[in-house]
Amino acid sequence: MGLLRITIVGTGYVGLTTGACLASLGHRVVCADADWRKIERLRRAEVDILEPGLPALVREGLDSGRLRFVWDTRAAVEGAEVVFLCLPTPMGVEGAADLAAVEAVADEVRDLLPHGCTVVNKSTVPVGTAERVAALLRRPDVTVASNPEFLREGHAVDDFLHPDRIVVGAADPEVAQRVADLYTGIDAPRVLTDTAGAELAKYAANFFLAMKLSFVNNLATLCERLGADIDDVVAGVGHDPRIGGAFLSPGPGWGGSCLPKDTHALLRLCEDSGVDFPLLRAAIETNVEHQRRLVARVRAGCAGEDGSLRGVRLALLGLTFKAGTSDLRDSPALALARRLREQGAELYAYDPALSELRPDFGDLLTITRTPFEAVEEARACVVLTEWPQFRELDWESVAARLGAPLVYDFRNVLDPVRLDKAGLVLESVGRTP
Ligand code: UGA
Repeated sequence: MGLLRITIVGTGYVGLTTGACLASLGHRVVCADADWRKIERLRRAEVDILEPGLPALVREGLDSGRLRFVWDTRAAVEGAEVVFLCLPTPMGVEGAADLAAVEAVADEVRDLLPHGCTVVNKSTVPVGTAERVAALLRRPDVTVASNPEFLREGHAVDDFLHPDRIVVGAADPEVAQRVADLYTGIDAPRVLTDTAGAELAKYAANFFLAMKLSFVNNLATLCERLGADIDDVVAGVGHDPRIGGAFLSPGPGWGGSCLPKDTHALLRLCEDSGVDFPLLRAAIETNVEHQRRLVARVRAGCAGEDGSLRGVRLALLGLTFKAGTSDLRDSPALALARRLREQGAELYAYDPALSELRPDFGDLLTITRTPFEAVEEARACVVLTEWPQFRELDWESVAARLGAPLVYDFRNVLDPVRLDKAGLVLESVGRTP
């Protein structure tokens, strides 16, 4: 297909990464976003999300003239040979994906799309959305394809340039091939299919990942009961390539902007199709139950004389949904914080990605500038995000400030020897003390 003129609609971490990476492959790319302030910043190569390598790629694209930013979607699609939709598809009514943003853009660009161009859904969308977009466009000369992304936040550039696979779905195999050819230069297997196959592959991948995490978190609880160490058990099963050792770190439950909404959307899709998928329901329910159990552990260890957490001060380390991002969407740390707060705990939290901005969490918790402020006089310290700097903390200073020498490490990120030396009692996930 050669080098093409590409428009990206939506410059979140997926759209911006896609645009900057496609420009780095030689395509001419215009990125559009309705947020003109964001566009102004991007024109100065200011990237406001934590994505290693992305600011440099944006700068390179701007300097080469191959990457441009505009806020007017209608102007952006002018002359485009391929238009990528990289729009939010949040959880909507009864768990279904909310397609309002995708549908609004389809309406907006209907009469402006150049003859013969291809519209590509990169957003995670229910099966049937490509056909729905085609129906909304009412343009027989425009084809609609599906090319789901498999980018992890915080690793998006690396995942784009070194993917495990590239999945493209289109009714016409030639169109699927044309979209796949946009990635010429990237070494990865191509999976070419129809639009339903590509759309479902994306949901299936996120569901499987969620299932792995619910499996390991449940297994961790079993380890605690039986006196086994979760790391040994995971190593014992993970070396089997049929299982794989990746994505098997126990934690405070899975969250983020994708796994929760996608599992719920898939569940809804199953219900609408009359297919019972008990594994999917179990993965979701296990996650909720796991968080309930962790909160019960904190309560059992920290409750006051009345048996509740009323007025008990707790320090939380980490609030983002995982390390390496400032994203708080559907963060398991916040889910746990809410449960602890409901039980009356007074929460002081430190997160390295938030210590400058210090967003207002209202009555839920007070955010501190340093970890030491958070732990001052706290009944216990609870680690909720696996920031590597927590491992390197001055735990002697933490111990001197804590009201009691108790640390819950719900990410298994801390070094037990160091905490022991500091005189702290460490409780982790899937290990007996
Ligand atoms: C996820 C998928 O990993 C990507 O492949 C996918 O493209 C993306 O969603 C998406 O749909 O766009 P992301 O949301 O960035 O990526 O987050 P993950 O790194 O997958 O983490 C998800 C949650 O699982 C986090 O709360 C994380 O802390 C947790 N997790 C992950 C664990 O508790 N243990 C692990 O071993 C791995």
